[in-house]
Amino acid sequence: MERQSNNGHEEICRKDGHSGDLTILAIESSCDDTSAAICKNGKILSNITANQAVHEKYGGVVPELASRAHLQNIVPVVSEALRFADCKLTSIDAIAFTQAPGLIGSLLVGTQFAKSLALSLDKPLIAVHHMQAHVLANLIADDKPSFPFLCLTVSGGHTQIVLCKSATQMKVIGETIDDAAGEAFDKTAKLLGLPYPGGPLVDKYAREGNPNRFQFPEPKIPELNFSFSGLKTSILYFLKNAGTSNVFKEEFTASEENRKQFIEENLADICASVQHRIVSILINKLKKAAKEYSIDQICIAGGVSANSGLREALKETGAKMGWQTFIPAFEYCTDNAAMIAITAHFKYLKNDFSDLSISPSPRAVWE
Ligand code: KG4
Ligand code: ZN
Repeated sequence: MERQSNNGHEEICRKDGHSGDLTILAIESSCDDTSAAICKNGKILSNITANQAVHEKYGGVVPELASRAHLQNIVPVVSEALRFADCKLTSIDAIAFTQAPGLIGSLLVGTQFAKSLALSLDKPLIAVHHMQAHVLANLIADDKPSFPFLCLTVSGGHTQIVLCKSATQMKVIGETIDDAAGEAFDKTAKLLGLPYPGGPLVDKYAREGNPNRFQFPEPKIPELNFSFSGLKTSILYFLKNAGTSNVFKEEFTASEENRKQFIEENLADICASVQHRIVSILINKLKKAAKEYSIDQICIAGGVSANSGLREALKETGAKMGWQTFIPAFEYCTDNAAMIAITAHFKYLKNDFSDLSISPSPRAVWE
């Protein structure tokens, strides 16, 4: 086994007896994005994603519709990933797929597709944990964090601080006890009458608003854990009271018309103030974790890491605290197969393969 050192990264070369290129085809289908990527020797050659507009009118992902859309999208998405990478199926060394967590029907489509390809091509199969892949999206760029690093992973279903000791050794050291940060964004957007997924829209309006105009509470949650359900309730009451208070009243005084007008006139300031609070909750816990673990390599990941307020706050805080900060490129923040491919690359190097009896799991049990 040959080892090379690269910016603190130990790269272990192929152990399967072949000395040539290592090319992986990865598939991600855990929720409502169908994505395929090709990774060659740890470099992403293509990353193709089909989004599902079908959920917009329902205000959230409808699991059955998501599975059906994955079935329609998976063949064209994989073909396009191969075409874009100028790669033939015969040059693929392994097939990777998201095995957990996610919507079971969605996961099943990617899993069955990956298993069929692995069987027909007689290539190894690599099962990837979606949340670990979000963390390792930080290893795609040339400018990578060195180990150990901390990663704040913020998505629609999870909010975690992960201690990453190596590409294959990770530990969750803090997480939400109720809603995820992405849910806080999406639920705020829903209360404001914005379409799903509302996170990017809250971000867009927040850019024009005053983050200090309205005050929302910061929860006092012990250790490195998070909570967003109190914030959601506070926003609900705030809107029901048309901005006069964010506490519960037996009878909310504002009429429906009043509330709508209040939202219309103050949308940017409401979005900026809510975003400011969500970001401060996240950054304060990250500071606590960095101090507790004496780590100055700090990353973010997951869909909410696309948020401009969070990205800016991380850079600012990093400069103040003397951290080296890392944020994946925009396309690697939300769900994508490139992050599955890079994770599979490291698993391949450890000979960490699955057999064809493996099934998907909707739960986020961390190894
Ligand atoms: O990681 P992801 O694509 O899917 C999950 O695994 O959940 O994250 C999706 C979440 C959604 O809640 C979406 O509203 C949020 O990420 N999101 C954002 C932004 N872009 C995506 N939230 C705030 N600001 C954004 N710019
Ligand atoms: Zn995700």
